[in-house]
Amino acid sequence: MTARLRSIRSLRRPLAALVAGASLSMVAASFTTAQAGEVEVLHWWTSGGEAQAVGTLRDLLESEGHGWKDFAVAGGAGDSAMTVLKSRAMSGNPPSAAQINGPEIQEWGELGLLGNLDEVAAEENWDELLSPIVADMMRHDGHYVAVPVNVHRVNWLWANPTVLEDAGVEVPTTWNELFAAGDALREAGYVPLAHGGQPWQDATTFETVVLSLGGADFYRQAFVELDQETLESDTMIEALTTFRRLRELMDEGMPGRDWNLATKMVIDGQAAMQIMGDWAKGEFTAANMQAGSDYLCAPVPGTADDFIFNIDSFAMFQLEDADASEAQTALARLILQPEFQQTFNQLKGSIPARSDLDMSESDSCAQRSMDDFKAASETDTLVPSVAHRMAMRSDVQGAFFDIITNYFNDDSVTAEQAAQRLSQAASLAF
Ligand code: BGC
Repeated sequence: MTARLRSIRSLRRPLAALVAGASLSMVAASFTTAQAGEVEVLHWWTSGGEAQAVGTLRDLLESEGHGWKDFAVAGGAGDSAMTVLKSRAMSGNPPSAAQINGPEIQEWGELGLLGNLDEVAAEENWDELLSPIVADMMRHDGHYVAVPVNVHRVNWLWANPTVLEDAGVEVPTTWNELFAAGDALREAGYVPLAHGGQPWQDATTFETVVLSLGGADFYRQAFVELDQETLESDTMIEALTTFRRLRELMDEGMPGRDWNLATKMVIDGQAAMQIMGDWAKGEFTAANMQAGSDYLCAPVPGTADDFIFNIDSFAMFQLEDADASEAQTALARLILQPEFQQTFNQLKGSIPARSDLDMSESDSCAQRSMDDFKAASETDTLVPSVAHRMAMRSDVQGAFFDIITNYFNDDSVTAEQAAQRLSQAASLAF
């Protein structure tokens, strides 16, 4: 049993501990300290593409006369940002807006620290604009407390066509094709699959393999229902086995590498492919590359009809200062404006959070993502990302990350053992 598993019982309600730690008077006192008309915004968008995208939001808010105090915490998938957010909230001084995604919005809502966005939501018709799955995530206790910025697709394979051509291979559509392409690419002197060895990146890759081999229902049984039999099943063991085999395609420099540096290996033609959500597209765009010619996107093998979603959103903390509150409401309103949605998402790599926008000017990967998102909503093959905080509570997710990464990097752990550990961790959720 890992240390994380041993301690998970005490972590069971990690955010609830914040309430015990921060007295309400401390929290209330801090709400008056924000500068008038200014919003302090915590996010983790620090790569080239991400910084350009978030810059458009800052500019838009400032163009309305409000102030933006940037609170960027580097670190892919926001693990560091969430730690910093907890300590700021614990000291009674949360930022006015924070990038908080998925079920964690509920965890923060339970603490009673989030503001109410119902008024702006009603004025701007969010109920109509947002698909029910997105709107539900933004509400706590029936009230809007957060606003979605985008929808990212996680199960993408990115490829450099010049490298593929040089090695005489096509974009793989099955795992066997991927492993065969790997041999040819190595032979031609390339790294077949760029990867960064960080727990969230390992989990990102793993969840796509599970979806590919098990399908959407199996994925939901395992990661949303946390069904122990499913987590220990032969299909899960097969997924774990295929997942670890992917290491053969990666390079020795992967431990600790940031995701955008892995994308850069594909951009520079050092590596052929990367499995990553479409924030990677933001890096290709920032490097002035065109989808379909300079780089290719394809669903991860075996997931063409499925869509792992990851929705970025900003939750708003309660404020007492009237000017700051006005700036905060403006931020919430601006995030869903059509023009902002188009510009931001083209830079960020995602698709708009509202599904009524014209996608004809978007690149081919974004168009495909929107088509596949709508199709997957209809065929019920839309599933939440584990690696990106969409599927389960944060304590269980943390335990899953440890098990997945430990298994990926330690050959002495068998796939059967890893499956059992996942099942054991899931049992702690109930
Ligand atoms: C976020 C993306 C971000 C990526 C890399 C994901 O969890 O949803 O917006 O670009 O992490 O940091």
